Amino acid sequence: MVLVKEEKVVGNIIKPVSEPVRVYRYYDDEMSEKEIEEHMRCYQLTREQVIKDKTQFDKKLYDTVRDICEKNLLDVFTNHVFEIHRSQFGRTFTFTIYPIGTNKWEDRSEFTLTQMINCCGCVVSTKTEVGKPYRKLGVSGKFQLIKEQVSKLLGYSMMISTVREDNEAEIKSIEKAGWTCVDKFKNSRTQNKIRIYTKKI
Ligand SMILES: CC(C)(COP(=O)(O)OP(=O)(O)OC[C@H]1O[C@@H](n2cnc3c(N)ncnc32)[C@H](O)[C@@H]1OP(=O)(O)O)[C@@H](O)C(=O)NCCC(=O)NCCS
Repeated sequence: MVLVKEEKVVGNIIKPVSEPVRVYRYYDDEMSEKEIEEHMRCYQLTREQVIKDKTQFDKKLYDTVRDICEKNLLDVFTNHVFEIHRSQFGRTFTFTIYPIGTNKWEDRSEFTLTQMINCCGCVVSTKTEVGKPYRKLGVSGKFQLIKEQVSKLLGYSMMISTVREDNEAEIKSIEKAGWTCVDKFKNSRTQNKIRIYTKKI
């Protein structure tokens, strides 16, 4: 995992007495030799073009997430780290926010987007969790903005997610963001009732 970019931002929209700091971090797996060669072959590019394209794409993705955070999340998360991880050759995107100076699990807010196996048009949105101190403040709705923008940039056409039928908060959030419940089932392993949601993007 390589740290591609780190940026410290001091200050906030409304200036408090002591200015808050926020940190943006973007990590990515280095492209393997095999992956570079595949890109060169598939898209008829030179090695330099492949590397340049990746650098430009990383910047665009980073700027998109940073922009949404700056516009929407600063009232809730001051003095926080905003961290992006891309792994498995770019197929998995994880976004995590945690307070600077602590690593308490319940303070972390995060979600993961991961490519559906054998269908590069679909992305699965999973592991959404808003840290306990930050719940009921509209954060999951803001996460929906990031999920959709990032999924579009990553080239997906359809988002898929499962939600437990008793998860009122997540159901409200996902429906408000325009997802459609396309089916329901009972998980025979856990007996939980599950809804399947999709959203075309
Ligand atoms: C589900 C979860 C992500 C929601 O995050 P959140 O940022 O607190 O949600 P929001 O503040 O955006 O609220 C979304 C809606 O749910 C409602 N809501 C929030 N918490 C609720 C609760 N405990 N019970 C009922 N409704 C709730 C809000 O009022 C809001 O409805 P509104 O838009 O009509 O006002 C968060 O509760 C969580 O992390 N839960 C544990 C992990 C989890 O269940 N993840 C989802 C897996 S699919």
